[in-house]
Amino acid sequence: MANFMAVEDRHSSGLYAKHEIVLVRGLGACLWDQQGREYIDCMAGHGVANLGHAHPAIAQAIAGQAKRLITCPETFYNDQRAALMEKLSSLAPGLERVYLCNSGTEAVEAALKFARLSTGRSQVVAAMRGFHGRTMGALSATWNKHYRQPFEPLVPGFSHIPYNNSQAISKAVSNQTAAVLLEVVQGEGGVHPAEADFLQAATRACRQSGALLIIDEVQTGFGRTGKMLAIEHYDLAPDMLCLAKSIAGGLPMGATLIGPRVANLAPGMHSSTFGGNPLASAAALAALQVMQQENLPQQAAEKGAYLIERLRRIDSALIREVRGVGLMVGIELKQKAAPYLRALEQRGVIALPAGMTVIRLLPPLVITQAQLERVVAALEAVLTADG
Ligand SMILES: Cc1ncc(COP(=O)(O)O)c(C=O)c1O
Repeated sequence: MANFMAVEDRHSSGLYAKHEIVLVRGLGACLWDQQGREYIDCMAGHGVANLGHAHPAIAQAIAGQAKRLITCPETFYNDQRAALMEKLSSLAPGLERVYLCNSGTEAVEAALKFARLSTGRSQVVAAMRGFHGRTMGALSATWNKHYRQPFEPLVPGFSHIPYNNSQAISKAVSNQTAAVLLEVVQGEGGVHPAEADFLQAATRACRQSGALLIIDEVQTGFGRTGKMLAIEHYDLAPDMLCLAKSIAGGLPMGATLIGPRVANLAPGMHSSTFGGNPLASAAALAALQVMQQENLPQQAAEKGAYLIERLRRIDSALIREVRGVGLMVGIELKQKAAPYLRALEQRGVIALPAGMTVIRLLPPLVITQAQLERVVAALEAVLTADG
């Protein structure tokens, strides 16, 4: 059997801490390694595979479009892109304009640039524990020192307030502020949902000061939290919305949705070679259709409520708290999560951390009841004495 691990170890950048598994195939919420061992996927490629792996509608859309037209810059019109833009803006009423790109960090980076252009200001208020990506602007908004420090000096003008602290956000936003940038549920930061009061305070502060409210739904978007968009839980009306991850059924794509408080964006101010390409657009259209036809947000709401309830019943002295929204679930431990993630993997469940002490579960929204039971059983085993 070919030794893919050795080959990757020799040639990879070295930037990734590797799991010792060679994944070669997926279907629904299952993954298989090179030896044919099956895993239940509670990572979904860091929240990308909301529709599960190898969804036939996505495979068909990609194959069909690949035979027609893969690339077409946004300087030309295109049928797939036009349909996708219309569809995306229908999901977030009021956000009529769409900038298409290829990843979450690009969607955030664009929103930050648009906020500067629109307001003529350069200060940005973000949150402690927030994560927004790794390019220089998005990284400047990201909180974790470990990600930031090696690359300092970062973009000036960014400040971080405690999440869910309404007073702090009201105080931090001024008439120098270009934008407030927040997640609705902090994912990487430990699965912390926002309180409604905090988001209202952020909205008020932006309206009063002329700053723009940018909501980062890169991880929470597309059914993950039990609604198509997590802003629907709060009746929140951002000026810009950043999307990516599961938007195109697994193909790379990001999007920044833009509202009327953002000034006109002139030709040439920003662009992306691959942004809005017909292949990713066709995949995204198919993905959005599947999400609506299979009612995936509702499925996530029901399965997530069940999962959280079952996890809260696990009698383990290791667990500090189980929290989450929809199928975005965090199990905060009283100690480091890494050994328990490894033990879970040995029991055939792949999950991911959020910070040092949280086990994060982001399964495909199509995960079955039987698979959820296996996940709960594996967690119970590793978090109690017989682990
Ligand atoms: C909330 C949030 N914003 C931005 C990003 C960056 O996305 P990408 O890795 O596609 O650049 C992530 C990635 O995990 C994220 O969770």
